[in-house]
Amino acid sequence: MLDLCRRRKVLVIIIFFCLFGNLIYWRPSILNRFLQHEPGESQSLPVPGESQSVPVPGESQSVPVKMKNTTVVLVWYWAFGIKQHWQGDVCKDRYGIPNCILSDDRSLFPQADFIVFHNRELIERKERLPEHLPRPPNQAWVWFSRESPAYNGDTGFLAGKFNYTLFYRRDADFFNPFGFLVPRNSTGMTLDNLIPKEKSYLACWVVGNYQPYYERTKLYLKLKQVIPIEWWGAAAHRGLHGDLLLPTMSQCYFYLSFENSIFRDYISEKVWRNAFQSGAVPVVLGPPRKNYEEMLPEGSFIHVNDFKNVAELGAFLKKLAGDKERYASYFKWKLNYTVQTFMGNEHWLVEPFCRICAKQSTLQRPKVYKDLHGWQWT
Ligand SMILES: *[C@@H]1O[C@H](CO)[C@@H](O)[C@H](O)[C@H]1NC(C)=O
Ligand SMILES: *[C@@H]1O[C@H](CO)[C@@H](O)[C@H](O)[C@H]1NC(C)=O
Ligand SMILES: *[C@@H]1O[C@H](CO)[C@@H](O)[C@H](O)[C@H]1NC(C)=O
Ligand SMILES: *[C@@H]1O[C@H](CO)[C@@H](O)[C@H](O)[C@H]1NC(C)=O
Repeated sequence: MLDLCRRRKVLVIIIFFCLFGNLIYWRPSILNRFLQHEPGESQSLPVPGESQSVPVPGESQSVPVKMKNTTVVLVWYWAFGIKQHWQGDVCKDRYGIPNCILSDDRSLFPQADFIVFHNRELIERKERLPEHLPRPPNQAWVWFSRESPAYNGDTGFLAGKFNYTLFYRRDADFFNPFGFLVPRNSTGMTLDNLIPKEKSYLACWVVGNYQPYYERTKLYLKLKQVIPIEWWGAAAHRGLHGDLLLPTMSQCYFYLSFENSIFRDYISEKVWRNAFQSGAVPVVLGPPRKNYEEMLPEGSFIHVNDFKNVAELGAFLKKLAGDKERYASYFKWKLNYTVQTFMGNEHWLVEPFCRICAKQSTLQRPKVYKDLHGWQWT
């Protein structure tokens, strides 16, 4: 009898939590729906089975209410969970793009003109497309990745789901390169003061993912028989703090901008940031020379395919480092341009989304990626 009583008590407690625990759990969303986009709070639609972010007052961006002439870009979740915070009209304030509402507030789903989905979380099944929600007819879904197809997983299941791509490829709907040139007026500057003075190393390489079978690893192993190469990364048992990357690479004549995989237009931060922004000349392994010429300033890089063999490449680099004038010629473009990248700071997650607003009038409508996977591999 006592036992039964206890059991009944337990049951009542369980039932209580089933009924009201949920209510307590959802309360912030329910409240928010009444409050209607209380500034400084973000909320999520209560989607069963998905984790809820409880709003922290004053922590998140404010959510202006959509007006007729504004565009709402909804970030369904943040890439790699790196949540962005801002105040005010971020697209206008930071990038001069007006009437663009950027938000991660899922309750804006019915009003969203564009919804951005980062590929990684989809292929890892950590996030799902909100296919259970009634999709407004003019709403466009944007597929977002910064990886080459070799690292985008099997995206076959995403066929027919997306309208646009936000990708490093020039033929993407929203071109999202790893870096770009910004014209500048360098009147009075000389080439000499655009090149870092202290050069301690001939060639440098920072490698995050070292696999013996990678093309770039094979080339590195051969090249280091010919010239000294300083390297950093787990495989080298030598770390390099992010803040030290550019100052350290600036001491290198050459930086080995070897891509992890070879795809058209896949010219990564290994060129734009590690080499160009530090002041080292990139030695590139990636798509053909012509592709680099289309995307980089003239005479700014050394392509490994231009050499018959590794010995020739090594000899060329040694000679070039000793020829001050010729070496300097690789920096001529710096007289007219600086490089902008959105790596290593929060901008890379915000600027491309704001740019969706700026580019929307040029989009093909309607558009659907019937074979997203195949498209990536072409
Ligand atoms: C568009 O919105 C802005 C405010 O974001 C407003 O100042 C402007 O008058 C609006 N234009 C039209 C045509 O409604
Ligand atoms: C560049 O700056 C100089 C002054 O620093 C100025 O005289 C010149 O007109 C500028 N040129 C351009 C193209 O803006
Ligand atoms: C840089 O710009 C100047 C004009 O300001 C031009 O004469 C020169 O050819 C340009 N150099 C390069 C490498 O584009
Ligand atoms: C977006 O794609 C869906 C199919 O997934 C399609 O029904 C819709 O018309 C497309 N919208 C636009 C704006 O292209």
